[in-house]
Amino acid sequence: MEHTSQDLNPLLTLAIQTAHEAGEILMDGYEKEKHIDRKTSAVDWVTEYDKASEELIVKTLLAATPDYGILGEEGSDIQSENGYRWIIDPLDGTNNYAHRFPMFCVSIALYHGETPLVGVVYDPLHNETFHAVKGGGAYLTTPKGTQPLHVSTANDLNSSLLATGFPYDRITSPHNNLTEMSYFIDKVQGIRRAGSAALDMAYVAAGRLDGFWEFKVYTWDMAAGRLVVEEAGGTFTHTNGQPITLTRQLTLLASNGQIHDQMLDLLRKAYAEREAAGIV
Ligand code: IPD
Ligand code: CA
Ligand code: CA
Repeated sequence: MEHTSQDLNPLLTLAIQTAHEAGEILMDGYEKEKHIDRKTSAVDWVTEYDKASEELIVKTLLAATPDYGILGEEGSDIQSENGYRWIIDPLDGTNNYAHRFPMFCVSIALYHGETPLVGVVYDPLHNETFHAVKGGGAYLTTPKGTQPLHVSTANDLNSSLLATGFPYDRITSPHNNLTEMSYFIDKVQGIRRAGSAALDMAYVAAGRLDGFWEFKVYTWDMAAGRLVVEEAGGTFTHTNGQPITLTRQLTLLASNGQIHDQMLDLLRKAYAEREAAGIV
């Protein structure tokens, strides 16, 4: 079904309001002692605030759009008949949050099948809401107002600031992004590992970062940030340059477009080295 950006605005408003309410839960817990459970590995943590945030988001979105499906990191998985599906990360940057490192967010996206329609990445600590609807551009709303977002104009790697991440299975898997790091590290201005993939993407959209790559990312990490990057004029693919397909776990390359091929070239070289060593 075709949507205009006007059709999508009420859903954007719903997503923003919901992200803000979830953000209140996160802010309430930020300075408090948290209960930590481990998920897929010893370094993959979850707190009671991740769960409370997901519960609030699911309840609110399903009350407003009862015939939509929803996929959430903390276990929500409701199918829909009409193809509409919310994809949410109730707290992206849990390890940061648990350590009180000030880089975490709520991520809410709406998809129809494989098509992103609405994306909201809300950083409650800095009061920044990055948002986009398909075909409507990307914006940043702060207490000072709303402004359009545009990716940066950097066109060479050595003046580019990039971000990346390291997977939760890095302790047991040699496919841990270190080969790629060794290709990028001496060719770029800097590399950040800030710890929230959704904010990394929002920062590419805002021109604060020029590019971002990561492996073994989940759908909920990228669902909203991807649309914000695309609507801000950026390019978003898998790390092999192929268009994004919504598998549960995926590889990501987001950039301002100008440095995409240069990043792809290094990722290809790193992949060839890993493949030769049997690390794929
Ligand atoms: C993680 C963060 C991190 C990224 C991981 C994600 P979580 O999400 O986005 O930056 O490197 O791949 O899983 O677990 O904090 O929601
Ligand atoms: Ca996440
Ligand atoms: Ca999460």
